[in-house]
Amino acid sequence: MPLLTVENLNVTFDTPDGEVHAVNGLGFEIDAGETLAIVGESGSGKSQTAFAIMGLLARNGWADGHVNFDGIDLLSLSPRQLNKVRAEQIAMIFQDPMTSLNPYLKVSEQMTEVLKLHRGMSNREATKESIALLDAVKIPDAKSRISMYPHEFSGGMRQRIMIAIALLCRPRLLIADEPTTALDVTVQAQIMALLQDVREEFGTAMILITHDLGIVADSCAETLVMYGGQVMEQGPTQALFEDPTHPYTLGLLKAVPRLDRDQDALEAIPGEPPDMSSPPQGCPFSPRCPRVMEICQETHPALERSANGVLRACHAEPEAVR
Ligand SMILES: Nc1ncnc2c1ncn2[C@@H]1O[C@H](COP(=O)(O)OP(=O)(O)OP(=O)(O)O)[C@@H](O)[C@H]1O
Ligand SMILES: [Mg+2]
Repeated sequence: MPLLTVENLNVTFDTPDGEVHAVNGLGFEIDAGETLAIVGESGSGKSQTAFAIMGLLARNGWADGHVNFDGIDLLSLSPRQLNKVRAEQIAMIFQDPMTSLNPYLKVSEQMTEVLKLHRGMSNREATKESIALLDAVKIPDAKSRISMYPHEFSGGMRQRIMIAIALLCRPRLLIADEPTTALDVTVQAQIMALLQDVREEFGTAMILITHDLGIVADSCAETLVMYGGQVMEQGPTQALFEDPTHPYTLGLLKAVPRLDRDQDALEAIPGEPPDMSSPPQGCPFSPRCPRVMEICQETHPALERSANGVLRACHAEPEAVR
């Protein structure tokens, strides 16, 4: 049985201008210890998918569908039950560590409290374990730096601390939402390598949310391409990137600098993502798609498995896209 199964997930927001349909009929699975990347342009519904799983949607939003985590239906839990799952089994890392670190508390306090509360440790045990985790995420001189405040660390170091905090309760699933976007390229690479290491060491499954396709290829076995709150394509990362057959995936890839391919120029996908308060009928990508046909504007393409094992929602035949 997969660790996490998401089925027919919808996220809707109530706004003064009407309902916004941020996620529409999304589904995917992830097995224990596996890695899944969720990619797509800004506004495609990546973060709201994560927030729906974590029960962290804004107050004007709600989720329906099924989110099953190891036999537990997350969408039906009470806030208290959900808190427990969140603290002990699923952890999330956000783009900006300062939004989740408390600036007024020493790192030691932020870490040991969690261990005392959720793993019943004594102060001494909790401090020892916290230092071990800071060591694991390669904070130099963790033993003395654990008594520092978040602002005394650099951005990259703060992100490492966030990862250590996320690992405190040995979660079985880690959701990382743009964990490296605020960092420079060298530090980005270090943090991604670190995430891989700790994931392997602790056997944690990971969902990596990013618009940076450059980091996906090395870090995740599976990739889900999202647009307009829906799955456009999902499958083994290598198959998706080496032989893209979905016009949206192809568009995303053309916009990324790549060393392994001849590229005359980077091309952005023309046009804008859809306004999710009035999503287009048919395929959400149809207004921008270079392969658009009449049927695309009328009916939504079903997700079907193609010859290379990739699930793909597109009316155009793969041969017509390549
Ligand atoms: N509280 C809210 N009320 C109304 N609409 C919202 C709310 N929160 C998010 N949305 C809308 O939901 C849609 C999906 O947003 P989401 O944050 O999931 O995008 P994303 O794929 O994570 O993009 P990015 O790459 O920019 O982070 C967007 O159209 C956004 O405007
Ligand atoms: Mg986001």
